[in-house]
Amino acid sequence: MTAIENSKLTVVGAGSVGTSIAYASLIRGAARRIALYDIAAEKVEAEVLDLAHGTQFVGDTDLSGGSDLSVAEGSQVVVITAGAKQRPGQSRLDLAATNARIISDLMPKLVQAAPDAIFVIVTNPCDVLTVIAQEVSGLPLERVFASGTMLDTSRLRWALGQRVGVSTSSVHASIVGEHGDSEFPLWSSATIGNVPLLDWRDPERPALTRDELDQIAFNVRNAAYRVIKGKGATNYAVGLSTTRVVEAIVGDQRAVLPVSCVLDDFRGVSGVALSVPSIVDASGAVPIKQTRFDEEEWASFEASALQMRTVAADLGY
Ligand code: LAC
Repeated sequence: MTAIENSKLTVVGAGSVGTSIAYASLIRGAARRIALYDIAAEKVEAEVLDLAHGTQFVGDTDLSGGSDLSVAEGSQVVVITAGAKQRPGQSRLDLAATNARIISDLMPKLVQAAPDAIFVIVTNPCDVLTVIAQEVSGLPLERVFASGTMLDTSRLRWALGQRVGVSTSSVHASIVGEHGDSEFPLWSSATIGNVPLLDWRDPERPALTRDELDQIAFNVRNAAYRVIKGKGATNYAVGLSTTRVVEAIVGDQRAVLPVSCVLDDFRGVSGVALSVPSIVDASGAVPIKQTRFDEEEWASFEASALQMRTVAADLGY
């Protein structure tokens, strides 16, 4: 049996984010079985039915779900989206206290239901909540991590691809640090193809300037606020970016993805969860310690770490 044939994904939380992750995973055939959990029994049953009714048009995926955590039994991957969501103008960190309580309560029960799973935290603030989830579960660091700046990196690559007129898949750039207001791009190693960003030339378009890169970074950092202001939530892109993480785990891909693990002596930084390019496979996620930072980027990373440490300490972790 290949990994995907014998695979099960459980999504915890059947809100717009959780159902978008389930829907994207269904369409991409990310797992052979997809389960959805939510405390709202009628809601989760309806979501499972609505997904299952479309299975004729996608690969063979079994849908299941319910309001009992036993639906997670046998999962290789458990994605957690349960919790309060950002309201217009609210920061992700504003959700910390409420969602810390939810994650602390859920994690032990989920580990009991799916003791061999890899746990991916999407609920915000996902970095701080990953520290809590790892601490209350006692799981190895690599088995509990957050989707982190997967989505921010996708926003960055889209914005750069649009500006230079190149396929997003040929834009090699990452957002690292907090999935939040202290995130930042690793401009020093960003390229189009193998051409450094500021060296890229196109007769049809003006060259990129440093000011433009700063504006793009600002737009990426504030993208969620803009979408939430307009439609009340973000869901499609986080659904697709999280599904990419699920595929790397289920497919045992050893893919390099910007996800957020609790760091253990990452150049001296420990005990906080921040996104850096990491190897993601069936064992979980391991940060790549040789990731390149220039001096300014490393200072930004340490600032992000301090912010996360402060929030975690305020929560008693
Ligand atoms: C966003 C949410 C998922 O960035 O934090 O859209």
